[in-house]
Amino acid sequence: MDFSPLKKVASAAAEKPILKNFEDPDRARQFSVSVGDMLFDYSKTSIDSTGRQALLDLYESADVPARRNAMFSGEAINETEGRAVLHTALRNLSGDPVYVNGVDVMPGVLETLSRMEAFAADVREGRFVGEGGQITDVVNIGIGGSDLGPAMATLALAPYHDGPRCHYVSNVDAAHIADTLRGLDARTTLVIVASKTFTTIETMTNAATAKAWMSASVANPAAQFAALSTAADKTAAFGIDAERVFGFEDWVGGRYSMWGPIGLALMIATGSDSFRAFLNGGAWMDQHFQLAEPLENIPVMLALTGIWHNQGLGHATRAVLPYEQRLSRLPAYLQQLEMESNGKSTSMNGKALDVNSGPIVWGEPGTNGQHAFYQLIHQGTRVVPCEFMVGAEGFDNDLAHQHRLLVANCLAQSEALMRGRSLDEARAIVSGKFEGAELERQAAHRVFPGNRPSTTLVYPKLTPFVLGQVIALYEHRVFVEGVILGINSYDQWGVELGKELAKALEPVVAGEMGTDGKDGSTAQLVKTVQRLSGA
Ligand code: F6P
Repeated sequence: MDFSPLKKVASAAAEKPILKNFEDPDRARQFSVSVGDMLFDYSKTSIDSTGRQALLDLYESADVPARRNAMFSGEAINETEGRAVLHTALRNLSGDPVYVNGVDVMPGVLETLSRMEAFAADVREGRFVGEGGQITDVVNIGIGGSDLGPAMATLALAPYHDGPRCHYVSNVDAAHIADTLRGLDARTTLVIVASKTFTTIETMTNAATAKAWMSASVANPAAQFAALSTAADKTAAFGIDAERVFGFEDWVGGRYSMWGPIGLALMIATGSDSFRAFLNGGAWMDQHFQLAEPLENIPVMLALTGIWHNQGLGHATRAVLPYEQRLSRLPAYLQQLEMESNGKSTSMNGKALDVNSGPIVWGEPGTNGQHAFYQLIHQGTRVVPCEFMVGAEGFDNDLAHQHRLLVANCLAQSEALMRGRSLDEARAIVSGKFEGAELERQAAHRVFPGNRPSTTLVYPKLTPFVLGQVIALYEHRVFVEGVILGINSYDQWGVELGKELAKALEPVVAGEMGTDGKDGSTAQLVKTVQRLSGA
């Protein structure tokens, strides 16, 4: 794919201050997508009509609609693993069939969904009990896609949480499981082992630890375990009854899996109505993505804005800034979704990628981030495109004034980033306090360059339906960017090497093997750890 026309028009457009674009009174409307109750505003970027056309040309030449249809129709678009990519089937409650290799997968998907619902209801309503009675706590043990999605969503949907307490353990650091289990009663705890492969070392190690913990106070610990996995043989070997194993197929990628069994803890926390509303929100976005014209299509325009900033202008990172405390795990979730999907330097055809791979994604909820890293976003030397999001309404009606303050902060930040503050304005601020050279010096520090791009997504309120819309929106954005870059967004070979080396290093750290063959630094680090730990 030739990105040079884009780079050319993007650098030309970036010459014009973003604020100047608003001399056109219709700029905001023309460079926004408004669908249903959602507004995606990308008018505070340097994208102009020529630039947008260049982006749409890329979209056309990459044949995104054909790839999108291939994905939805179950073709094996994950070519390096020979798999279909059909997490969208998990949220398809329409009754329409979805075929993989000529077989309709929907009966299996819906059967698993109703098994999950029956189990979740049993746990919530006290028909499934522990040895000590009604389940009070659920511990989900998983990592990456088997943790980040449900953990993020459980927090996001806190107002809907009316089931047992849910805890998420991911890190192999013993501190995580130890701190989580401390204070829980094993006799009323359900442990869910969530692992697509059921081989991930962190998850299997934590699962064994949880089993040992439970064995200390429960006669039949396996009876208080459930498993979410594609590997039925391995869940059986772990001792979990098939009744409490919820399976899925290899066409659901780990980081796209929260819509199915991996969402079980979320379903137990919030109930199946909320979970279905979440699925329906995702399905709504699937329809929108498939049917809307590119200019009216939120995932497409979000993706093209990303391509503009990263490939067109070379901005290496983007910040995701939800003004929604309950979305505080969203940046971490999106880091996996985006960076594990599009952080690749080999294109589909096996050749080296000749443009930047997907960007570095980071962020924190507002307003907290404002008091931490926004300094750099406003006055640092690097430009960080920002993606704001905010709900029009909060949940705590008696604290509506706080929500207004939150919204005002969100909108003020994108305005400040775009407007900046000139030297003259800065001089006016300090003029009463300083004079002459000192006034100039003080004023210089108070200048904001402005012209910093951002987008804003506004939604009505963070309901389960809206959360489903937002997550599916980002999934499709990743897809569109991946197709334009010529990347397979659905494999993750880049995580393998570290896993292999960690396995080989464990006996070295334990002192069972020497450091021969290791580089000097690694050998030194091993020896230092051994010395300091007294091993
Ligand atoms: O290490 C990367 C990864 O394979 C992710 O893609 C995945 O979400 C995570 O590990 C966990 O994998 P599993 O669900 O198989 O335990």
